[in-house]
Amino acid sequence: PFIEIEDPQDLRRQIAVWRNRGERIAFVPTMGNLHAGHLSLVATGRLHAERVVVSIFVNPMQFGPKEDLDAYPRTLEADRQVLAQVGCDLLFVPSVRTLYPRGLAAQTRVEVPGLSDILCGASRPGHFVGVATVVCKLFNLVQPDVALFGEKDFQQLLIIRRMVEDLAIPIAIIGMPTIREADGLAMSSRNHYLTPEERARAPALYRVLNEVATALRSGQPLAEAEGAGLESLKAAGFRPDYLSVRCAEDLTPPGPGNRDLVILVAAYLGRARLIDNLRVCL
Ligand code: PAJ
Repeated sequence: PFIEIEDPQDLRRQIAVWRNRGERIAFVPTMGNLHAGHLSLVATGRLHAERVVVSIFVNPMQFGPKEDLDAYPRTLEADRQVLAQVGCDLLFVPSVRTLYPRGLAAQTRVEVPGLSDILCGASRPGHFVGVATVVCKLFNLVQPDVALFGEKDFQQLLIIRRMVEDLAIPIAIIGMPTIREADGLAMSSRNHYLTPEERARAPALYRVLNEVATALRSGQPLAEAEGAGLESLKAAGFRPDYLSVRCAEDLTPPGPGNRDLVILVAAYLGRARLIDNLRVCL
């Protein structure tokens, strides 16, 4: 059993009780529709703190006008059930009106320049401003010692790390490995948009990442490996948005001396936009 709180005042009161006892607080922000990927963050949060706070908030600010805000799966009752089993102490479920009382346009924004505009940021203008803004706001409400994020959203993780550094936010950010289905598909709420036929093709995304990694390790030039990866994706029935090899540290295009790389991919399969990534150390 855990405490469920909607109101920020109530949240502060409960956090203060724990703080006064000297207990540390871990925080896992989510948009709900929880799966094993989310739950691994909660379980690891437990190892770092006496108390784990999870938030569920489908953040309208990070969805574009033509994106899936209304269709995004909302499964609060099922989420409560799984959270009760993994040792969550507090579920924070703020309303849109509470977080954005003046509306989205009037909301003060947090922008991480450069990192926000490339890759997924180029295809989804305003997305990462919405992410950074809501995460900053949730950080100020919860005031945790540590916060956990998945490497599945690699660009998001780097943006949060940079925001915390640039704004001197005193929270340790922990990145956690991507949890996958048995066939390699990264777990994601958006997998629910796939038809059975698309679901059967979906593991090709991770397979292609591994092919590109193998090509890079065997010395193939980046551009060639990227091109071959894009072709494989199309052959598997995807409409690729991008497939790009970048420096894992800051997502800049690698030079000859850069060996710590990440292959990032975004591709449509039917109406689902799937993302995944794979680190390669040459
Ligand atoms: P959401 O997509 O619900 O993801 C919440 C957290 O779970 C993120 O840190 C994400 O990287 C992580 N996650 C998702 N799938 C994962 C997987 N297969 N393996 C490991 N971790 C996984 O990301 C968001 O929500 C939002 O942008 C948010 C940060 C909550 C801001 O609104």
